[in-house]
Amino acid sequence: MSEPTPTVDAAAVRAAAERLRAARRVLVVTGAGISAESGVPTFRGPGGLWRDFRPEELATPEAFERDPHLVWEWYDWRRQRLVPVRPNAAHEALVRLESAAPEMLIATQNVDGLHGVAGSRRVLELHGSIWTVRCVGCREARDDRRAPLPELPPRCACGGLLRPGVVWFGEALPQDVLYESFAAARQAEVVLVIGTSSVVYPAAALPETARAHGAFVIEVNPEATSLTAMADVSLRGTAVACVPALTGAAA
Ligand code: APR
Repeated sequence: MSEPTPTVDAAAVRAAAERLRAARRVLVVTGAGISAESGVPTFRGPGGLWRDFRPEELATPEAFERDPHLVWEWYDWRRQRLVPVRPNAAHEALVRLESAAPEMLIATQNVDGLHGVAGSRRVLELHGSIWTVRCVGCREARDDRRAPLPELPPRCACGGLLRPGVVWFGEALPQDVLYESFAAARQAEVVLVIGTSSVVYPAAALPETARAHGAFVIEVNPEATSLTAMADVSLRGTAVACVPALTGAAA
């Protein structure tokens, strides 16, 4: 007999929706969980492994130095899986919220580009994009949506090795992205955190910073995380089950 779907606390949804409706400055922090119901596996949940490799073993400059072909096989596999994937009702609900909350910003850890595909305009890709490639030689960066890639590892016109345009473990986030996301966290009235285990920094420090500056913290996750104890409202449900309910009232 399958596990009953946990019911999300309706009073908590109403209270959170009320805060969202009243807010102008909203920061939304998203992780892999918001794309899970679009069919994208999360990193630390079931299906997160590739050939028994943990993301931490492949998503590093050292791994790329050691074996660029292997790292590119992983990214090419992930790109091919993303081709048929569409944004879900949670991505779409955030587009609606954006039109209601003029100073809303999405800071996403996801490299899948689904917020943009859904139509969100103000999106900071904290960890870059899987659809961008960057030359380790001439440092040119550009969009490349070919999946599969005709050649692994791909090469730049200058002959240099191309790497995925994502931020790897041990690498710093782009300064402008870091600056803009933490400025938004300090000014936010409400921070909505969706589908992240809140274990990877500096992204996990965004809700903490917002809270320290007086923001109301709303978490959406089927499981408790290291953020739950600090959240004003923590909804134990999926992104698709909760986010439209949170923003429907707001629209
Ligand atoms: N709706 C909402 N949340 C969900 C859903 C869902 N349908 N399914 C799973 N989740 C939650 C899980 O309970 C988990 O807490 O999403 C979270 C996903 O956590 P991770 O797999 O750790 O992904 P994320 O937090 O985005 O990882 C952060 O780590 O590997 C790096 O750079 C990578 O950006 C990534 C970063």
